[in-house]
Amino acid sequence: MTYSEYLDHHHDRFITELTEFLSIPSISTAPEHASDVRNCGEWLVNHLKKIGLHTVELHETPGHPIVYAEHCLAGPDKPTVLFYGHYDVQPVDPIELWTNPPFEPTFRDGKVFARGATDDKGQVFLHIKALEALLATSGALPVNIKLLIEGEEEIGSINLTSYIEKNKERLACDTVMVSDTPLYGPGLPSLCYGLRGLCYMEIHVQGPNRDLHSGSYGGSIMNPANALCEIISNLKDEHGKITIPGFYDDVVDLSVEERAEYAKLPFDSKAFQQGLNVPLLFGEQGYTTLEHISGRPTLDVNGLYSGFTGIGAKTVLPAKASAKVSMRLVANQDTDDIATKFTNHVLDIAPTSVQVEVVNLHGANPVLVERSGKGMHAASKALKEAYGKEPYFTREGGSIPVCIIFDTILKAPTVLMGFGLQDENAHSPDEHFDLENFSLGMKAASLFYVNMGE
Ligand code: BES
Ligand code: MN
Ligand code: MN
Repeated sequence: MTYSEYLDHHHDRFITELTEFLSIPSISTAPEHASDVRNCGEWLVNHLKKIGLHTVELHETPGHPIVYAEHCLAGPDKPTVLFYGHYDVQPVDPIELWTNPPFEPTFRDGKVFARGATDDKGQVFLHIKALEALLATSGALPVNIKLLIEGEEEIGSINLTSYIEKNKERLACDTVMVSDTPLYGPGLPSLCYGLRGLCYMEIHVQGPNRDLHSGSYGGSIMNPANALCEIISNLKDEHGKITIPGFYDDVVDLSVEERAEYAKLPFDSKAFQQGLNVPLLFGEQGYTTLEHISGRPTLDVNGLYSGFTGIGAKTVLPAKASAKVSMRLVANQDTDDIATKFTNHVLDIAPTSVQVEVVNLHGANPVLVERSGKGMHAASKALKEAYGKEPYFTREGGSIPVCIIFDTILKAPTVLMGFGLQDENAHSPDEHFDLENFSLGMKAASLFYVNMGE
């Protein structure tokens, strides 16, 4: 049996196993789910042992455990691939908007619906099945392989950098393979060469020592909610440019070639606008929507809270107001540097009639990966064969915090070969994964490992 026949032959069992994997509520940010996260890691360990990988271990961190496996029996003349993925998932709220419970995987319209289906359990699992098929049908793998599957990606991979530093020799590899990004579109494979970084801040504005009657006190003090709005409205100008001094200093501008490539990507901005039901798109002047989404940095309020938000009117001056503000960064911006610039600027422009505190919640650095090299070539060939189409080179707006670390510490190029779709509701209700891409992904992943071994 060829590995391809094996994949077809065992498809039903794979679906049963995937269902089991997706049923474990491995929400990394929720303390009450810590034991579920661990169970999920242990489930993976058992599974990787079952498919016959040589060494499989659960590595402790100060937070959630890391699943690590090695199967380095192809010989020193064969390359070593480090596969990276994450088994943790996002919270499920608002739960009432799910058609089915998020941890009871449901199959509908050729898709599996569950939290983690596309981000990232489904994509991790298709690699595991590709490796199983290769091992089962030829008794060996075409490359030396290491697997690093973490449980803290959705909370910023907080313990992974020090883990990689400590295990630098053990993790040594020629290429890193990651499947945690979307395809460009249905049937349109892509290789992602750029991910944005993130700088996630919180602003707290304190006004009076208690909520006040807005009639008795209104007009005599600075309202912290008004002050917060004033601060926020001063972070960006009317052209969508961020006004924090030095914010753009380290931005690598999109090259003429990249902008020409962006322009050639199939994209219907009218349909994009209508799909979101907004009267008009808005973004940084001088750039296209696709460039806004992935090639340029951003600053956005993610949450805003103050005062009375119940039904009806309550005449009150709030004592405090807060905002969560995220900035998506592009190469070579640095999240710590941007956090400092943001903090200084907010404190600078804050009205002196209130007290303002700025907190750095978490961040990730952006990355641009090599577009040539053995790994990219092997992935490109694999996608072409599985999908019958040459992949596009794309940048993505999301972040995978560890990617820059592979570059700086392991000195290995990362290949981002994703199989999700943009609209599969990652991080939101009714997350799902297309089973067609699950199948094609298993084929493409197998082909990638085979191509790497040639
Ligand atoms: N898989 C995503 C990253 C992603 C999203 C890549 C969209 C390309 C397109 C990842 O799991 C994720 O959600 N990352 C977080 C990182 C953050 C918590 C530091 C993100 O981008 O918000
Ligand atoms: Mn992910
Ligand atoms: Mn995610």
